[in-house]
Amino acid sequence: MEISFGKTSDIDSWMELVTKVKDDFPGLETREALKEHRRTVLEFINKESAICAKYHNKIVGVLLFSKEHHMICFLAVDMAYRRQHIAENMVSYMLTVMDSKEDIMVTTYREGVPEGIAARAFYKRCGFVEGRLTEEFGSPVQEFVLKR
Ligand SMILES: CC(C)(COP(=O)(O)OP(=O)(O)OC[C@H]1O[C@@H](n2cnc3c(N)ncnc32)[C@H](O)[C@@H]1OP(=O)(O)O)[C@@H](O)C(=O)NCCC(=O)NCCS
Repeated sequence: MEISFGKTSDIDSWMELVTKVKDDFPGLETREALKEHRRTVLEFINKESAICAKYHNKIVGVLLFSKEHHMICFLAVDMAYRRQHIAENMVSYMLTVMDSKEDIMVTTYREGVPEGIAARAFYKRCGFVEGRLTEEFGSPVQEFVLKR
């Protein structure tokens, strides 16, 4: 398994993974939303804020983050490759390029939603603590914060 910054040439394989996991994310339901997401991924790739995990040249994990806002913006691992510490390795890779003095924030599903079980357990395991209850794309979410 190779963890690296994404390159423009990765975009098709990247979007194949996003299309597979799109039901886990509010806001990715339509073809137009996926097209918009593709443009977003290319922007993050251009500013070295897109990390991927590759297995035999196929993208099996992706992470978008913002250095300016100290945030994880998108994180997903292919269903067939989960519980192999791929997300954990991508987060560790991200931490090497983030300001070590700033807290890191992410929003995910609130407690009690089946889609949120993996993500909430994952962030807690990585040391994030529960934060404010907010909304995103009209859905209730909760912030998780990695205190530094
Ligand atoms: C959340 C997600 C990215 C985790 O990816 P992953 O590569 O499977 O996670 P890791 O293998 O690095 O998990 C590390 C640890 O987190 C915890 N964890 C991860 N998934 C879990 C689950 N489904 N249930 C309980 N604990 C879990 C475990 O402690 C795990 O260590 P262990 O397997 O040794 O027990 C993945 O499940 C996913 O893509 N889910 C759908 C999309 C999503 O929810 N993204 C985040 C939204 S903000």
